[in-house]
Amino acid sequence: MTIGIIGSGAMGAGIAQVVAVAGHEVYLLDQSATALEKATANIASTLRKLAEKGKMTAEAAQAATARLHPTTVMQDFVGCGLVIEAIVEELGVKQQLFRQVEVVVPADCILASNTSSLSIASIASACQRPERFIGIHFFNPAPLMALVEIIPAVQTRAGLAEEVRALVQGWGKLPVLVKDTPGFIVNRVARPFYGEAIRLLEEGVADMATIDWVLTELGGFRMGPFALMDFIGHDVNYRVTESVFTAFFFDPRFKPSFTQKRLFEAGYYGRKSGRGFYNYAEGAAMPEP
Ligand code: NAI
Repeated sequence: MTIGIIGSGAMGAGIAQVVAVAGHEVYLLDQSATALEKATANIASTLRKLAEKGKMTAEAAQAATARLHPTTVMQDFVGCGLVIEAIVEELGVKQQLFRQVEVVVPADCILASNTSSLSIASIASACQRPERFIGIHFFNPAPLMALVEIIPAVQTRAGLAEEVRALVQGWGKLPVLVKDTPGFIVNRVARPFYGEAIRLLEEGVADMATIDWVLTELGGFRMGPFALMDFIGHDVNYRVTESVFTAFFFDPRFKPSFTQKRLFEAGYYGRKSGRGFYNYAEGAAMPEP
């Protein structure tokens, strides 16, 4: 099956690597040629390093790299059996994109969104054939994180979730079927996790580094909440919180934070922009609030 991936940012590039390694021909599309170049160079170099470390053979790494076709032209999706979207977390933009995708792809092509929080039903509603629409939600970094949430919408045809589950499992992932609700499992549980950590900071209970340290060293989390929000990106993370809060009819449990909103507005997205809660600028001591 040929797979189309839209968006070559953190998630799209990671998903493209996963499916290329699994043996699929992959068309990776982005509106930004610069983002595409960066993504393809990163994937090629990651696969090369994996081969050098003996995690895969040099031939397999080369073959996976050769299966990856970067493009800015939607027409290249004409032979796709599955398209996964990983663009900006905005409902209107995603809906508009799928209207364009449907014009190009075959009638039986499965359409999927990697959205973290938006209603799958509402994205599907923009499609001519919403019964072939489903959520396939990977975690960052996609090549390393085993969990994938599979989210059928109310419109999704019977049987599609199982087909997709089997496909994703074949890529070496651990899929879990989840109902189409705001934030699904992980991003719903994560909202109070981030929100409470920010409130601890705002109330001066402890500084960021201490909170992160407590949760990693003593709480067993791989990353503390501030380091994790910086890793995910405040553009993504803030929008997800806002979307979950709105979707739960402004339930205060999910209320976004002004502290994070200011980072988002300033363009302090975290690692990707060089500054978030911490400062990642070259030469800056780490961690530095
Ligand atoms: P990103 O900002 O790293 O990448 C988005 C890419 O999409 C950019 O390269 C941009 O040029 C491209 N793009 C935007 N609009 C486009 C359009 N109309 N057509 C073609 N390309 C377009 O974002 P990231 O972090 O990869 O997130 C993408 C999606 O995945 C979002 O829906 C997000 O909620 C979700 N997600 C993000 C996770 C994270 O930890 N960052 C984890 C799981 C899901």
